[in-house]
Amino acid sequence: MLREEPLLLGSEARTNLTITMQSEFAIKLNWIPQGRENATRWVIAHMLRNKGWIVLMLIGAFGNAALAAAVPLYVGQAFNAINTPSPDYDALTLAAVGIVVSQLVRGVLQLGRNFSSEIIGQRLERDTRHELYASLIGKSMAFHDQQTVGDVMARATNDVREVNLMLNPGLNLVIGSAFFLLMPILVAPRIYPTLIITPLVFVILYFITLQRYLQELKPATESVRHQFGAMNAVLAESIEGIETVKSAAQEEQAMEKFEGGVRAYRDAFVRQGYIESRFLPLLLLGVATATGLAQSLYLFQQGLITNVGDVVAYNSLFILFGFPVFTSSFAYPQIASGLSSARRILALINAETHLDENTAGHAGQMQGAIQFEHATLQYRSEAPVLEDVSFEIRPGQTVALVGQTGSGKTSIIKLLNRIYDATAGRVLIDGRDVREWQMAALRKQISIIEQDLFLFSRTVAENIAFGQPEATREQIEAAAQAAQAHDFILKFADGYDTIVGERGVTLSGGQRQRIALARALLADPKILILDDATSAIDSATEDQIQQAIYTASRGRTTILITHRLSQIRWADMIVVMKQGRVAAVGTHEELLTTSAAYRRIFAR
Ligand SMILES: Nc1ncnc2c1ncn2[C@@H]1O[C@H](COP(=O)(O)OP(=O)(O)O)[C@@H](O)[C@H]1O
Ligand SMILES: [Mg+2]
Repeated sequence: MLREEPLLLGSEARTNLTITMQSEFAIKLNWIPQGRENATRWVIAHMLRNKGWIVLMLIGAFGNAALAAAVPLYVGQAFNAINTPSPDYDALTLAAVGIVVSQLVRGVLQLGRNFSSEIIGQRLERDTRHELYASLIGKSMAFHDQQTVGDVMARATNDVREVNLMLNPGLNLVIGSAFFLLMPILVAPRIYPTLIITPLVFVILYFITLQRYLQELKPATESVRHQFGAMNAVLAESIEGIETVKSAAQEEQAMEKFEGGVRAYRDAFVRQGYIESRFLPLLLLGVATATGLAQSLYLFQQGLITNVGDVVAYNSLFILFGFPVFTSSFAYPQIASGLSSARRILALINAETHLDENTAGHAGQMQGAIQFEHATLQYRSEAPVLEDVSFEIRPGQTVALVGQTGSGKTSIIKLLNRIYDATAGRVLIDGRDVREWQMAALRKQISIIEQDLFLFSRTVAENIAFGQPEATREQIEAAAQAAQAHDFILKFADGYDTIVGERGVTLSGGQRQRIALARALLADPKILILDDATSAIDSATEDQIQQAIYTASRGRTTILITHRLSQIRWADMIVVMKQGRVAAVGTHEELLTTSAAYRRIFAR
């Protein structure tokens, strides 16, 4: 079942690592995924891959805050210089120059802080997206069946972006402003010892209120992320099914459904805004500023502080608190939101998938013998869709699989190339359980042409060569010729270089079938399966396709799932399916006399 890939450690390991994860196919990444047990750790592990930039960011943040604190001190000095009977203009000039120089240097340090955090943020986005994509590609069909495309897309785009924003502006401002909280505490006691009290108490209360604020905010930000995914899922579904929506005149209803999603997203956002508006630290800062002023004036009156400049310097220090107070109302929520996103991404990455590619399995040349032994298939916890299926096909035979819609024909095929594993019983190829085969070797030697086949938005040639990127143009054309596709491809303006529209909309059903057949022939599989592949084809092209299939079936085991009598009669053997069970096996003539289920298929 699930198997952990061993991690290579050592010098060459860094360039060629295999991900440790539960997957059908392990995709190579050039780093060791770490901290996947928890979103915070995962993000930190990703950040720590940029140690140099983190150091630069911290230096920039600290220097920026320290030099910001220089301003109140210089202002205090300037006050003292002129607030005497004989003003000291040299000292005043010195203070002015001090402010200019310190703020110039501060600008450079601030740039360093922003630049590094931007770099870390962008890398975080790139790497987390890469890791997510690698894990998605590796997951089994059983996993993908349970996902809504829109939600997965939302996670791969929006949530990943949110992780970037968590760093910049999020963490950048939090770290940057944290030093601004520190500076008044460091500087105030140098003016007079007890002056530390007000800033210290302020900072303590600030963190307590902030903590509560974030706690309140967490469910709100999570709900915003969740509603965005849900809204996207509705959007993706209606765009994908737009033809169905239109032909059923359901535009209004689709609109309403989407508006419901949009509304829920907006409501979640408003709830978050409501919590954000009750941000207390701003009020606290007002109280602290007043308290500080009162205390310093009292000390001045008592003669404990001897010059006005120090009073001015002390009170100016509170301006420094303005930055963290202002930014924390959105920088901390940004981090909270980034972590919710990281959790959503991780949930996908960590989701279990119940197939194992068996890299150490058998990878030899296939002969094409197929055996089903009491195979049962159950999707999730529903009733089994295949029960106790047993039959046998010899290498090179052509077999027709017939039965009503929903009788389990497609499911049988999915057991063969391990899109799903049998929940009980066995499926054997060349006398070997399919689970003992190396999955890549197994799938490469089985070609399946589906009814709802998928063409990529690439050229015709690339679509035919999908899975065989090293195929030459001659090989591609030979396959197209055998599939009776060559002539119509040449009629396109760009021939083999014509781009096929998304989902192949510019091609007719018959043309798509023949391109898929060419793809299968180029792969030269030992087992060829056509799943209802000719049902959408008009009788004019039928003869051509029939010819193509006949050519294709030579020298390989062929399974035809079809309703066409012409194809069924020509099969060496027919397997009749009924409600997930094998109802009968035999030739056309035999079954006509022995099987009522078989006769019923042609009774219509
Ligand atoms: N991925 C799936 N998850 C749950 N049920 C499925 C899935 N695929 C097919 N089924 C169910 O399995 C049964 C057999 O489907 P299928 O094998 O596609 O039949 P056929 O190809 O003969 O029309 C149907 O009842 C169908 O609803
Ligand atoms: Mg089917």
